[in-house]
Amino acid sequence: MSSDGVNSGRRKFLTAATSAVGVAGVVGIAVPFVGSWNPSAKAKAAGAPVKADIGKLEPGQMVVVEWRGKPVYVMRRTASQLEDLPKLDGDLKDPQSEISEQPAYITGEARSLRPELLVVVGLCTHLGCAPKFRPEVGAADLGGDEWLGGFFCPCHGSKFDLAGRVYSGVPASTNLVVPPYSFEGDNVLVIGVDAEAA
Ligand code: FES
Repeated sequence: MSSDGVNSGRRKFLTAATSAVGVAGVVGIAVPFVGSWNPSAKAKAAGAPVKADIGKLEPGQMVVVEWRGKPVYVMRRTASQLEDLPKLDGDLKDPQSEISEQPAYITGEARSLRPELLVVVGLCTHLGCAPKFRPEVGAADLGGDEWLGGFFCPCHGSKFDLAGRVYSGVPASTNLVVPPYSFEGDNVLVIGVDAEAA
């Protein structure tokens, strides 16, 4: 990719991160864009894994990590957010992720290796816009009491829950993609290396 391409990609992601901060500011949750220990821009564009320190990620907080030129949303869910996931099954197109593509080790409602940690590619599965992080329960513009937090795509209105599962009745037809990932110790997330291969 040319440096122009890299820069415009960065601008796009920073815009997404900035607008997410604007929303999250209402509830006091920041959505920083995390620097990762990338080997080089060239290696990164070619698909090298990236590592991110998740040790300081607080419950309820999300960060965005760039991997292969895509934003990856990394969120630490609270206990109550995890408890809410099964309540939504009847409102979703693919609650058990039987249709959506993802690593085989990603199963169940939480769609994650560690229950509390959500890792999904932050691109809408409709036409690729960046969904906004909308964790606030009961958001009036997203269904009021029925909204238990999730992601909202501003382009055509697709909604996803806090496991990246797509709602029924929206343009997107599949859940947000879970990238291959694994961990090094407790606090280092490795995006781009499968847990089974790590
Ligand atoms: S790109 Fe997200 S709803 Fe169309």
